Amino acid sequence: MSLPHLDCLPNEKAADKLVLQTLEDYATSHPHIDILEAGCGRRWPYKLDGFDYRLTGIDIDAEALRIRKEDVGDLDEIVHSDLHKARFGEAQFDVIYSSYVLEHVYGVDALLGLFHKWLKPGGLLVIKVPDYQSVYGLITRMTPHKFHIFYKRYFRGLRNAGKPGYGPYPTVHERAIARGPFHEFLSSNAMTMLQERGYGTLPGMQKHVSNTIGALTFGAYAGGHYNLLYISQKA
Ligand SMILES: C[S@@+](CC[C@H](N)C(=O)[O-])C[C@H]1O[C@@H](n2cnc3c(N)ncnc32)[C@H](O)[C@@H]1O
Repeated sequence: MSLPHLDCLPNEKAADKLVLQTLEDYATSHPHIDILEAGCGRRWPYKLDGFDYRLTGIDIDAEALRIRKEDVGDLDEIVHSDLHKARFGEAQFDVIYSSYVLEHVYGVDALLGLFHKWLKPGGLLVIKVPDYQSVYGLITRMTPHKFHIFYKRYFRGLRNAGKPGYGPYPTVHERAIARGPFHEFLSSNAMTMLQERGYGTLPGMQKHVSNTIGALTFGAYAGGHYNLLYISQKA
């Protein structure tokens, strides 16, 4: 399958703005929306003030859910479960939002099938995930989890990295979430891609290293961005 050209956004803030705009447009034409945050972790970056919505968060990490409940308190329903074992109803949600989760999950094909089942007709599937075909994605797959913790703590300055309730979570990053297989999933389920963007640039020297490795792979792996935003819609 030949893929459409990938446009890139300057940063995650721009990606979140696009997601928020899409959610607001959807909410404007629906009196009430049910949102599932799949792999909700400790935070949700969107303010949907003025809209009638219900936010359900599911996560396998009890400590992350505890922090979310006590520090943020924005979830209407909290489900502590592996996504694969969740018992949501068919066509239960208007929106399923999953941010930096699918790279940590085995059986992405099956999980995408569940997302499709849990969505209402016309519902939105919003996914943020590292780009499988990026230099960052490639290096993350090739390096051990201990290195990821070290990187987040000492290069990104995240002092809680690796502690209970905090990432980085062990990386699986199955190819099923790469652009090609994801487009195939959409077309075999009659879903439409509404927005597809790359975003995220590494800081300082890491950016140059990433761009150089990308160039050495003749563009097979993107050096200039490392995340993808997919916003798709069920028929
Ligand atoms: C990197 S964090 C992202 C958290 C949040 N979505 C965000 O964007 O900040 C990944 C989250 O996915 C959760 N997770 C990983 N595998 C899961 C699974 N099989 N079922 C449910 N949650 C899972 C982790 O516990 C963690 O909270």
